[in-house]
Amino acid sequence: MEHHKKYLKLADTIINLQGRNVLEVGGCSPIDLILNYKPNCWTCVDLNAKAVSLFNENVRKRKIAKYSANLIDISKFDTQEKYDLIYSINSFEHIHDLEKTLKKMYLALRPEGYLFTVFGPIWSSDVGHHLSISTENEQTLNFQQGILSPWEHLISTPKDLKTRLEQEYGSETAQKAVTYIYEYKDLNRLYEHEYFSIIKNSQFSKILSIKKRKGIAPKMDGVTNTRELMFILKKGDSHLLEKSMMLLKLVGACLTQRIYKLKGI
Ligand SMILES: C[S@@+](CC[C@H](N)C(=O)[O-])C[C@H]1O[C@@H](n2cnc3c(N)ncnc32)[C@H](O)[C@@H]1O
Repeated sequence: MEHHKKYLKLADTIINLQGRNVLEVGGCSPIDLILNYKPNCWTCVDLNAKAVSLFNENVRKRKIAKYSANLIDISKFDTQEKYDLIYSINSFEHIHDLEKTLKKMYLALRPEGYLFTVFGPIWSSDVGHHLSISTENEQTLNFQQGILSPWEHLISTPKDLKTRLEQEYGSETAQKAVTYIYEYKDLNRLYEHEYFSIIKNSQFSKILSIKKRKGIAPKMDGVTNTRELMFILKKGDSHLLEKSMMLLKLVGACLTQRIYKLKGI
């Protein structure tokens, strides 16, 4: 809930959600929070069936017009120039065909519309593996617990990592962890420079890109200490004044509301 509050507030501060037609990609934000910002319409596209049905159930219960969630892959979502804003939180690192997705997003936006996305931890960061599994004795192991040392998923080989984890967690859990880290299908395993290159080669203009960094990265090709990325992109030309205004709003929000820790721009 906290991260939804934070990012909705941030998007509203920078772009203003009131009266906007918003397409949320890779998630269904809580309706109570969305309503605070009075968007005109809110459409979600997500592959999480539970989240989609919960959102639609809440819409029905509250009889809210113009809100809906769709269980569909964004790279297959077809709509024409309808939305003022695309809002996407912690989903870009999961979306496989990001090039195709950006094309669909571009088509879905009206001219001068914006894409606001924050996502991470990305694969090339210290905890980019997203490890989250249950162990042989029903405990949950996740990446925030420091089970892997920073960047170990990139420094080590699957075989060496399995041998190391076996000693601590047993062979079943070690195998499960290694399978998750290197084969879990819901992660795209893109490196930082690949996101920048995909975005540069898209039809969007870049307004802002922000990097949230952590640690000192090992010297390996493509490996960096950027954990999280934020992009504000535009369908149309970006102007210096607009870029400066958005940057000022972002910095203002970070300083006054402490809604986002700004480390690197
Ligand atoms: C880590 S969850 C984030 C959910 C939510 N935005 C949040 O911040 O709590 C990633 C979400 O991306 C969605 N997702 C991944 N690939 C997708 C795709 N190709 N099309 C639509 N949704 C996708 C998943 O279904 C999942 O709900």
